[in-house]
Amino acid sequence: MARGQRTLPYSLRPMTWDDVDQVGDIEREAFPTLWPGTSYRREMRNRQAEYSVCVHQDERVFLPARPPKRNLLDWLRRRRQEPLPGKEEPLLLGYVGQWYMAGEAHIVSIAVREGFRRQGIGELLIIGAMEMAMRRDAQVVTLEVRVSNDPAVALYEKYGFKQVGLRRRYYADNGEDAFIMSTGSLPDPEIAAAFDGMRERYAERYGDAPRDYL
Ligand SMILES: CC(C)(COP(=O)(O)OP(=O)(O)OC[C@H]1O[C@@H](n2cnc3c(N)ncnc32)[C@H](O)[C@@H]1OP(=O)(O)O)[C@@H](O)C(=O)NCCC(=O)NCCS
Repeated sequence: MARGQRTLPYSLRPMTWDDVDQVGDIEREAFPTLWPGTSYRREMRNRQAEYSVCVHQDERVFLPARPPKRNLLDWLRRRRQEPLPGKEEPLLLGYVGQWYMAGEAHIVSIAVREGFRRQGIGELLIIGAMEMAMRRDAQVVTLEVRVSNDPAVALYEKYGFKQVGLRRRYYADNGEDAFIMSTGSLPDPEIAAAFDGMRERYAERYGDAPRDYL
């Protein structure tokens, strides 16, 4: 870290079992027409999948315990207006997930909590996804994005993704097309140098974000 550079109040780390409820909440907020939502419990067991979360260092959130099934005890607690048991967790601000297949990393989902957008968290998640892809020796990072999703397309273009194809009527909810976007070849020294430049610009603008997997 350059001298005097500030450290951001949030960090990236791999998703854990304790995170799946908050990640599900962020997904529902970001993709309200996606039904059924992703089963993050299944994704935690998927060896091809890797998810990272952006964690606020200072803010915490109280999560009521998910009652597995309504049982008599819960019913009694509700009747007596006793709070259901729960736990406090660090507040998650966003997540990114990717699947590794045939030497490629494919971003399957990325989202930032609405109240925390436009603060560089989406960028940090993309940086993390690319760093993890490089660690796994993926040749490229690819993804699909709605053709109307200007914020996401702008984010990907900023990190060197280019439109390499179109999937017609890819989205079931409204029949919208998807752009297929891809980075250049990650092992290419020019691409690697460009990515280093992007990371430096990020750190200059926002500060240093601790990343647990590095
Ligand atoms: C796309 C998304 C992840 C961006 O997250 P974010 O934290 O707001 O993004 P950042 O603050 O890191 O912005 C990074 C860049 O993205 C682009 N961008 C982000 N939001 C934008 C907006 N509303 N309009 C235009 N460009 C935008 C800009 O290029 C921006 O760089 P800049 O700050 O130099 O202009 C966020 O809008 C989101 O969660 N959207 C809903 C879920 C979604 O659509 N996911 C993508 C599915 S493919």
